[in-house]
Amino acid sequence: MPDTVTSLLDEIAAIGIDSARGGYTRPVYSTPELDLRSWFLAHAQARGLDVETDRNGIIWAWSGGVGGGAVVTGSHLDSVPGGGAYDGPLGVASALVAFDLLAQRRVAGRRAIAVFPEEEGSRFGIACLGSRLLTGAIDPDRARTLTDADGTTFADAGRGAGIDPAHIGPDPDALARIGTFIELHVEQGRGLVDLGRPVAVASSILGHGRWRISFTGTGNHAGTTLMTDRADPMVAAARLVVEVQRLARTVRDARATVGRIVPIPGGTNVIASRVDLWLDVRHHDDTVTHLLVHEIGQAARAAALAEGCTATLTEESFSKTVDFDPLLRDELSAALGDAPVLPTGAGHDAGILKNHVSTAMLFVRNPTGVSHSPAETVENADAEAGAIALAAGLQALLAA
Ligand code: GLV
Ligand code: MN
Ligand code: MN
Ligand code: MN
Repeated sequence: MPDTVTSLLDEIAAIGIDSARGGYTRPVYSTPELDLRSWFLAHAQARGLDVETDRNGIIWAWSGGVGGGAVVTGSHLDSVPGGGAYDGPLGVASALVAFDLLAQRRVAGRRAIAVFPEEEGSRFGIACLGSRLLTGAIDPDRARTLTDADGTTFADAGRGAGIDPAHIGPDPDALARIGTFIELHVEQGRGLVDLGRPVAVASSILGHGRWRISFTGTGNHAGTTLMTDRADPMVAAARLVVEVQRLARTVRDARATVGRIVPIPGGTNVIASRVDLWLDVRHHDDTVTHLLVHEIGQAARAAALAEGCTATLTEESFSKTVDFDPLLRDELSAALGDAPVLPTGAGHDAGILKNHVSTAMLFVRNPTGVSHSPAETVENADAEAGAIALAAGLQALLAA
């Protein structure tokens, strides 16, 4: 029986289950993510693809010889904490099935599947770290010292996965091999549900970034410190969370989220001495994003002052709004029977690569419209339709 997208996803359905949070937790270079990478390598080798892992931890699986001008597809195998089954793996499984379809049709031409590490930034804080390193969008010195919640550096985690951290960084030769890149991804909204269609082509990615806000106060005893004698950074952080929502709601189309707060030291009977809070802000106009973050920074200082604390704001990453290549977008839409064209608010490696190579994305319908949650879903028939669409897109590009 040939593999289907559904059978491939079934093979990995037990890897990285998070029984505490629900869904999947597959941080980059953790045991579950390494198991998924091995699973992919086995499938690529079984198909006779030429497999390599480059110096940035990106896995490449080639057909038609390794070299320039290739048509490349792929996605990622890491997840957010408690994520769904499809964000990332759907694109990788669909790539394998699309390559099978091209082989059956005896389609010639150089092509590759790429699997990118740390797309989510959920372990080391910077999303799309593999594609950023490849393209030079992040300084390798900074990447090496990024640290996870347990104090492990990206350098050490990479070393554990067989990647020499001394050699990570911009790789113009590897980048030059990509002629065109298409990433297939589960839709992370309800656009296709509303249109009653299984597959769309992407128009754009909202500009987005991550900022860390640290509130510093005075650590003390929860029982012996009078309520009037406190400089509690947790209260300052709480004030800010409400302000983030209020400010974002004043800006049409803006999204601002506080999804992670870390109190230090973090004890039930301890007034924290510091609270770190991570802010995710997105808008299609990058100037608006920066203005909103500026206002949030002022609100953070006001919240700190009200509690006798101090606040600092640091930009950790920023990705400009991406408009995908309109010619490629329209060519793909036409090749897929006039597929609808939809924007997304989610970041992707395709968005980083777009600054360097001709790039497109396909989205597959998600009946719940929910993502970064166990509720993310894809119907089996749509998963197979996605792989067929990807094969058609790759074939059109290989013929071009
Ligand atoms: C990644 O999925 C992101 O959009 O943050
Ligand atoms: Mn993804
Ligand atoms: Mn994601
Ligand atoms: Mn993403």
